[in-house]
Amino acid sequence: MGQHRIGIVTGGGDCPGLNAVIRAIVKAGDINGYQSVGIHGGLDGLLTPVQASPLTVRDMDGLLIRGGTILGTANSGRFAAKAGAGKTRLVPQKTLEEAKKNLNHLGLSALIIIGGDGSLTTAQQMFEMGFPVVGVPKTIDNDLDATQMTFGFDTAVACAVDALDRLHSTASSHNRVMVLEVMGRYAGWIAAYAGLAGGADVILIPEIKFNFEAIQKKIEEREVQGKHFTIVIVAEGAALDQQLVATDSGSSDREIKLGGIGHEVAARIESLTGKESRCVVLGHLQRGGQPTQWDRQLCTRFGVRAVRMVAKQEFGQMVALLPNGMMGAVPLKEAVNKIRAVDPKGELVMTARALGISFGD
Ligand code: F6P
Repeated sequence: MGQHRIGIVTGGGDCPGLNAVIRAIVKAGDINGYQSVGIHGGLDGLLTPVQASPLTVRDMDGLLIRGGTILGTANSGRFAAKAGAGKTRLVPQKTLEEAKKNLNHLGLSALIIIGGDGSLTTAQQMFEMGFPVVGVPKTIDNDLDATQMTFGFDTAVACAVDALDRLHSTASSHNRVMVLEVMGRYAGWIAAYAGLAGGADVILIPEIKFNFEAIQKKIEEREVQGKHFTIVIVAEGAALDQQLVATDSGSSDREIKLGGIGHEVAARIESLTGKESRCVVLGHLQRGGQPTQWDRQLCTRFGVRAVRMVAKQEFGQMVALLPNGMMGAVPLKEAVNKIRAVDPKGELVMTARALGISFGD
């Protein structure tokens, strides 16, 4: 009997740390007698013609710090379990059967799926079909309820804070309002953490309904205090007049494409206050580059734990960072479709409010 083989696949939007997880799986897998096989281009790589290749420990050199994913990824396609504005879609039985057949041909005794809510929802459907899957939670949005933190989030926050630091000096030099639009589809974690760490004056998130009168009041208060500039951070998923701002409404195999709220917010602030207002959309800069040291250790712990779960045949589960700071596992079924949102009455928001930061409410 040959060596046991683990398949590794990355799904959904990329994020810093994917390669660090792959590295941890391959290295820990090797020590435990597993050969790793990378599936390329997301789960569609399991469909005919299969896109797969062996991954050796030697291939892992330099991956701890490399952004993106060496396996490639996709957030649309035949395995998409999320479509349009947050709708769940069942992956067709025929697609799952084709992948199962190819999984057996490849001799894989387990498949580790590294992804966010969409890919993990697919993972759960695959598990129900008899696939031996283990999930690893990824997303810069940090919005999965079953883990205290997803990897990629810390790096995205660091990028947003760097942007805020830079915007501060130019905003104060020109006495302008600078609006920074960050990612955060359903939850405003990036905006809230970066806003706090980067000294924003106004934080707008999906969890707290905002209005322009409150923002105007905050800007005018600052003027009275002699502060002639204001920094606003807004999550792309915050609702403007009860509506999401999007560039594309999505389709049957892809989610709605958010973006554009920052420019709208800046324009409305300018017309209300008369202050020159500019917007910067941070966009995919948040998803690129080297992972922070926090994300590197989290990815490494996630990867090693995933291999342990494979060895113990704990399938249908996802690795998670537990409230006590330890690694653990939770059933995929309980992990998916549950968004972890910023608590409008929680300590994070209260801390910001204690400093006079406005949430536009
Ligand atoms: O889910 C992570 C995320 O970065 C969201 O914050 C964002 O809305 C989405 O991915 C963007 O995806 P894409 O790169 O496909 O536009």
